[in-house]
Amino acid sequence: MDNTDLTKIKIFIVDDDVFSLENLSISLSSSKFEVSKTGNSDEALQILNNNIFDIAILDLKLQGTTGLEIIEKVKDKSKLTKYILITGYSEEEAFLKANRIGVSEILKKPYDEFKLHSTIDRLMHIKALEEENIAFKEKLQKENVNLKEQIKEKFKNDQNIMIGKSAKLKESLNKAKSVAEYSINTLIVGETGTGKELLARYIQRNGARCDAPFVPVNCAVLTESLFESELFGYVKGAFTNAIESHAGLFEVANGGILFLDEITEIPLLLQAKLLRVIEERKIKRVGSTKEIEIDVQILSSTNRNIHEAIKKGFLREDLFHRIASTIIDLPPLRERKEDFVSLVNHFQNLYFKLFNKDIANLPDNVWEYINSSNWDGNIREFSNFIRNYILFGTITNGNGHRKPTPISNNENMYLFKNKNFQELEEAKYWLINKALKQFDGNKTLAAKHLGVSYQGLAYLLKNINS
Ligand SMILES: Nc1ncnc2c1ncn2[C@@H]1O[C@H](COP(=O)(O)OP(=O)(O)OP(=O)(O)O)[C@@H](O)[C@H]1O
Ligand SMILES: [Mg+2]
Repeated sequence: MDNTDLTKIKIFIVDDDVFSLENLSISLSSSKFEVSKTGNSDEALQILNNNIFDIAILDLKLQGTTGLEIIEKVKDKSKLTKYILITGYSEEEAFLKANRIGVSEILKKPYDEFKLHSTIDRLMHIKALEEENIAFKEKLQKENVNLKEQIKEKFKNDQNIMIGKSAKLKESLNKAKSVAEYSINTLIVGETGTGKELLARYIQRNGARCDAPFVPVNCAVLTESLFESELFGYVKGAFTNAIESHAGLFEVANGGILFLDEITEIPLLLQAKLLRVIEERKIKRVGSTKEIEIDVQILSSTNRNIHEAIKKGFLREDLFHRIASTIIDLPPLRERKEDFVSLVNHFQNLYFKLFNKDIANLPDNVWEYINSSNWDGNIREFSNFIRNYILFGTITNGNGHRKPTPISNNENMYLFKNKNFQELEEAKYWLINKALKQFDGNKTLAAKHLGVSYQGLAYLLKNINS
């Protein structure tokens, strides 16, 4: 079939009456149209399935089938084709079905040539409008996707900015700049939500390794069995499930930065293995004897008091000296209240844009809350507070509930006043914070103490903080 002339209107005729088929074909033979035809319904199905026509004209009664049945079978193939049904009968049921399945026109025999041509003109006009509409819709959709991506990208970039002008934060940032410039292995310490991971990314973006990979590793989930295969990789056949060779995170980060998040959560035995790799700057994939040279800057983080952690045996001292050529201590938010205003501006801009809301100033009662709160969850909690205020207009802590006020003077007990669901949620929040404080922020121990898995606690914390 010749589909090359795009300017011609492509018409397909199906009629098992040879005489009618010829007649119709003759009446449509003009330079405007490119006509193809068949009297065989199987062939009609095949042709309609494999070609796209502008107009398909089908007789209602065909041998062994009907024009309607054929249309029903093929109409999803090309949604823009206009179908004209020709019939010599007045069959109400067929007309109803024709309407239902989207036949564009029913022509009753006998019809004159003029009627046929004007119907085709009208249907082609509708088709052109539909095509225009689709093109416009596609363009809008593309623009929409594009805009969404731009907003997301901008949001990601804006999210990566470290905000704050307080002397304490400036001191940390200055140190971070040197660490970035000279690729110094650095331990970042600070309470949860103070921006340790953000600072690690800041070091990467502002340093000698800005074009190389930044690979974060959550050490708390590295079990003994996962540790070596995840960090050092493995070769095919090294163990039962090693169907393909696999590069470890050290290799992935080669030339760049490996960020060991929550480093004190690595079991001591594995810390020795990690120490050796950092000292020797070489790894061997599990199952291989070949040594691979590694050049990575190690950034690590912990929310524990690091000296206590060493004393209590959570971190090997020799490993500490390797990963902490210097330490950057991120101050908690309560010690840098002068950063509140710039942080509020930052998060307001971020969330107003993200949620497409008009920028408005925060009312006094919100500022009162900001100034009088403790912000134990630090910047993460602060950011969630602003987000929830902008979204819901509520003054709540990050998890959407009122911040639990100490109801009892007895610090070891949470006293219920109303015994409702909200209080239960608050008690959960209170208990988790208490356990984290008791174990110097060590989530593994806090989880054990609370009788939940590490992942369970991480999930609860995420719900509280996000
Ligand atoms: N100075 C800052 N300016 C703007 N946003 C910040 C700042 N510090 C932290 N944030 C934001 O606060 C959130 C928490 O930061 P991050 O995850 O880096 O904290 P963290 O110290 O690693 O917390 P955790 O100990 O719980 O892992 C992130 O959304 C981050 O973008
Ligand atoms: Mg972190």
